[in-house]
Amino acid sequence: MTHHRQAIHRLDYAPPAFLVDRVDLTFDLGETFTRVTSRLVVERNKQSSDTTAPLTLDGEELELESIKLDGAPLPRDRYQITDSALIIPDIEDEAILEIVTRINPAANTCLMGLYQSGGNLFTQCEAEGFRRITYYIDRPDVMARFTTTIIADKTKYPVLLSNGNRISEGTMDRNRHWVKWVDPFRKPSYLFALVAGKLVSLCGQHTTGRGKTVNIEIFVEAGNLDKCHHALAAAQKAMRWDEERFGLEYDLDTYMIVATSDFNMGAMENKGLNIFNTKFVLAKPDTATDADFEGIDAVVAHEYFHNWTGNRVTCRDWFQLSLKEGLTVYRDQEFSSDIGSRAVQRIQNVRTLREMQFAEDAGPQAHPVRPDTYIEINNFYTMTVYEKGAEVVRMIATLLGREGFRKGMELYFNRHDGKAVTCDDFVAAMADANGIDLEQFKRWYSQAGTPKLNIDGAYDEQAKTFTLTVRQSCPATPGQENKQPLHIPLAVGLIDRRGQDLPLQLAGECAPTGTTRVLELRRPVETFTFTQVPCLPVPSLLRDFSAPVRLDYAWSDEDLVFLMAHDSDAFARWEAANAYATRLLIGQYHVAAEGATVAAPVDFLEALRSLLVQEDLDPALVALMLELPSERMLLEEIPDVDPARLHQVCLAIKQQIARELRPEILRTYLALNNGEPYRYTSTDVARRSLKNVCLAYLAELDEAMVSEALLNQYSRADNMTDRLAALKALANRNGEEQLADFATRWKDDALVMDKWFALQAQSRRPGALSRVQKLMEHPAFSIRNPNKVRALIGTFCHQNLAHFHAEDGYGYAFAADRIIELDRLNPQIAARLAACFNRWKQVEPKRRAMMREELERIAGEENLSSDTYEIVTKALQA
Ligand code: TRP
Ligand code: ZN
Repeated sequence: MTHHRQAIHRLDYAPPAFLVDRVDLTFDLGETFTRVTSRLVVERNKQSSDTTAPLTLDGEELELESIKLDGAPLPRDRYQITDSALIIPDIEDEAILEIVTRINPAANTCLMGLYQSGGNLFTQCEAEGFRRITYYIDRPDVMARFTTTIIADKTKYPVLLSNGNRISEGTMDRNRHWVKWVDPFRKPSYLFALVAGKLVSLCGQHTTGRGKTVNIEIFVEAGNLDKCHHALAAAQKAMRWDEERFGLEYDLDTYMIVATSDFNMGAMENKGLNIFNTKFVLAKPDTATDADFEGIDAVVAHEYFHNWTGNRVTCRDWFQLSLKEGLTVYRDQEFSSDIGSRAVQRIQNVRTLREMQFAEDAGPQAHPVRPDTYIEINNFYTMTVYEKGAEVVRMIATLLGREGFRKGMELYFNRHDGKAVTCDDFVAAMADANGIDLEQFKRWYSQAGTPKLNIDGAYDEQAKTFTLTVRQSCPATPGQENKQPLHIPLAVGLIDRRGQDLPLQLAGECAPTGTTRVLELRRPVETFTFTQVPCLPVPSLLRDFSAPVRLDYAWSDEDLVFLMAHDSDAFARWEAANAYATRLLIGQYHVAAEGATVAAPVDFLEALRSLLVQEDLDPALVALMLELPSERMLLEEIPDVDPARLHQVCLAIKQQIARELRPEILRTYLALNNGEPYRYTSTDVARRSLKNVCLAYLAELDEAMVSEALLNQYSRADNMTDRLAALKALANRNGEEQLADFATRWKDDALVMDKWFALQAQSRRPGALSRVQKLMEHPAFSIRNPNKVRALIGTFCHQNLAHFHAEDGYGYAFAADRIIELDRLNPQIAARLAACFNRWKQVEPKRRAMMREELERIAGEENLSSDTYEIVTKALQA
């Protein structure tokens, strides 16, 4: 790996000096020795201002065997080799290069380029992995036609896959065979893929609206075919949905998905050959939870949708990453909303955004949706680029309406199909297709930080008007001291005393228009006066979370209880519950700091009780409203926080809820725990979610009846959702026996063992850290496997706040040791883990000093990767 630490700047973008028209690759595969022959047809780029630049090809960790230019060996003095490039100074405007390099997949531990996993071979090229396979102009604005010939041992690698269509194959001497693939679409190198190995496949079909039949093939290791049906159905649903919602059809004859258990992220959208983390493919009811099934739907759809938003239209440079990621996340969220519950989907997305993206935006790694500078691009596959990017696209859709948004998408593809473009091009297509001005809106792409809305409401009894005064502001972020006002859609409603939505009519309008209104904020302060308001209303603000902002409005506790019960917007009902609980927990944190006893007010408990006794509510929504805000989210709201105290307060309130609502919680649990066989339907998923939230509350009670219920649910469950919910509670009690039973039962299923590791890493029982350390020696654990690292180490450092932030600092030292250890093996994974130190300045002084020391210890390591270097130095600078 390289250790370059030069910052790259967005404004330094220049078109490439050369383009590649064709690439013909031949791989002679071997696990420790693969020979790659690349024939490149290159030409000088007429768009480039530098007409004499040398041809510079990126390359890392490659061994050059030979190089020919226009058919003749290139003399050694005609080219230079550095540890990151091959440079040919004197070259014609058109040239054909033949380059032979060697690579060693078995020695590749960072999982970028060509690597080995379970005896099979896989590639991962985004963002800059292709340069670890062969010398190339490895940037997304160089789009070429690729062919790939793969030669390999027939027994070890019976299946040989690459992008596009398989056009020929044959056998060779020494038990070898070969396959040739041709990709009819031009693509950047980051979308290249190759897979070779012993794989079996599940096949299905999809017939498009125009009557074309697409083959869908899912490749997995033998023994896993029975876990592919959900992923196949997801691909079929996604194909249908994209045709219906956006008129977009698949463009090749075959869509392939391959699953590997060694993968740095969720999945990768390589043209025609998506490669997935097994976590987002393999599932059956006894091994996967409801959340896993939902994750598979979302990720399969996400990668499939990239075929248009990412592959057909791609990014000009990596600063534009949100062009494809924000848009594709928006699309997969919409898909999930349509196949499931829109309200539940929205609440879950907002929870993640608040817990993770708001934290990122408030900390040392804050950056705009379209960053201006980076050291290591791998560090910019962030919550901001993905999730805030999706919110930005969602706001455009809110401003334009569904039809307007679709027209914008059509113009976007008409203008840019087959091209590498920018976020500005996307916004321009949206604006032009609808004849509206989005210039101010574009600041959402360039300005970091979470904006804040301070809203006042005033009722004029005489005039029967209700006036909202909205002030927007945005905190400073690293490198951005002063912020400019944003164009913000603010969806509002007004609710009368009886809980009815009032028709909304702004001053100057002659008739009301609906009961939810999207107000458009542009200036630092805006006022909106609603007329014909018969009585003092309760305002419902930021309905459906119409913008990724923090909101400050002085609702009373009674207002929040009222909104919880009456808001016609399901998201806003949940939000009221969430706001009430957040306010309460922060208040009680301060009560505890003064040494007083922590307690929830009766009104809060009664509001929760009424959710449990009403029979007509959606159980999934009730479950979400009963769940308290996470400690991770609350930590963001309390300066100089003591995480241990925060944990104690959350626990005390949870236990109080369990005690005081015991009859209703128990009744609900028993009613839902009716022994019906498992089905994966939205009704059943919703019921299980409420049942298991109830179980988690019951588990806070020290009663024999509860122990029995937990043991019963654990041993009798016919599905992983219920079994794991019980085991999770048992892991916080004395569930040694069940944990051992679980491990014996599932020792051969890597994904189930990930759950087992995660659950123990999350346990709040004393001694969590030493148990995590011991689990690192478990035969199912491997520091080289990203899923295992995330399950055990990542969960402990990011989710188990009480133990990670232990007063003795051992949690911090453990994290730093692991980051240093991982940095030598897999810098991407090390850098992700290093984010656990990001919020060190939010924590009280004693712990803050210890966290800083560990950051300095990491920064002082020799030969740190650019990935970890960037994260820790930014954390220390800010
Ligand atoms: N583009 C992929 C997606 O969001 C994610 C991705 C980017 C990735 N870089 C990666 C996956 C490196 C694995 C490894 O769909
Ligand atoms: Zn993506």
